[in-house]
Amino acid sequence: AARLKMRILELNRQAARFFHHNLTTPAGATGLRYFRERGLSDDTIKRFGLGYSLEGWSSLCDHLKGQGFTERELLEARVAAQGKSGKGCYDLFRGRAMFPIIDLRGNVIGFGGRVIGEGGPKYLNSPDTPVFKKSRNLFALNRAKSSKLDGLILAEGYMDVIALHQAGFDNAVATLGTSLTAEQTQLIAKYCNEVTIAYDSDGAGQNATRRAINLFADVGVKIRVLKMEGAKDPDEYIKKFGATRFKLLLENCNNAIEFEISKLRAKYDIETADGKVNFLNEFSKLMAGIRNPVERDVYVKKVSGELAVSPEAVLQLIGTNVKRKV
Ligand code: CTP
Ligand code: MN
Ligand code: MN
Ligand code: MN
Ligand code: MN
Repeated sequence: AARLKMRILELNRQAARFFHHNLTTPAGATGLRYFRERGLSDDTIKRFGLGYSLEGWSSLCDHLKGQGFTERELLEARVAAQGKSGKGCYDLFRGRAMFPIIDLRGNVIGFGGRVIGEGGPKYLNSPDTPVFKKSRNLFALNRAKSSKLDGLILAEGYMDVIALHQAGFDNAVATLGTSLTAEQTQLIAKYCNEVTIAYDSDGAGQNATRRAINLFADVGVKIRVLKMEGAKDPDEYIKKFGATRFKLLLENCNNAIEFEISKLRAKYDIETADGKVNFLNEFSKLMAGIRNPVERDVYVKKVSGELAVSPEAVLQLIGTNVKRKV
């Protein structure tokens, strides 16, 4: 098994080299054009080892076989799939912009491939293999871990991360086409104690944010939530408004009130009357620190509903705390 893993890693490295090399050939010009059109510099393309999987069915398989890799190894690495007839195999990634996924040791452990033009799925990701566990890795953590910037930025997509790094935010990482796992938050907790969530501004992204806040609470990582308006994700935001504006967003992040509330929830047993009162006391102190009355109202409504107490009573409690502060 150890030998197979080594072979898969070597195979993946050669595959990544092949994809990257394709960019410089006429058959791979589509890939290079794609990355450039998306605003990536040649330096960024090189740094992230981006590439292109050729159209047709077997360019990668042929190339790797020529290097001495067996069909079995190609299938185990999941860069190829078994042909319908049962014999022969074909390239899994065809005509796609390729993103190698690199682990903390610098090994190429898998790939993400984005469709260019029509067709789906938009992204095709390597399935798990003996060397690749999606749930335990993060895209670009190998680079972000040595960033001089504080904390990490957690985005949704490969392109977000790459655009962020290119704009100087080299502490950005992303999950690998799956939702965030507890293992990933534990991994992140080893590197930093503050994460800024910069998920997409759509409904899915907002739901994922809520989920991430809870997962990070379990490992004691502080959360800030980026409030992005006018763009659907960080990549688009930076393209539209520039890196300076994005930096402002980072500086004016939501201070994760929700994170604080969930911490309070864990601290008190709100099933008991005592617990409820103590929880609400601390909650109102937290609320007293929020200047925006509308924002405050949102949380008060939510919490009072959940605890079956009147929002008026909670607001009164907050009022007491506000006065005490003065
Ligand atoms: N994703 C996936 N499979 C899909 C769609 C998305 O694995 N069919 C994953 C990819 O990792 C992708 C991330 O989810 O990077 C975010 O998806 P989405 O927001 O749809 O894509 P973007 O990253 O914004 O991609 P692009 O800007 O290239 O359109
Ligand atoms: Mn750095
Ligand atoms: Mn999305
Ligand atoms: Mn995008
Ligand atoms: Mn997106």
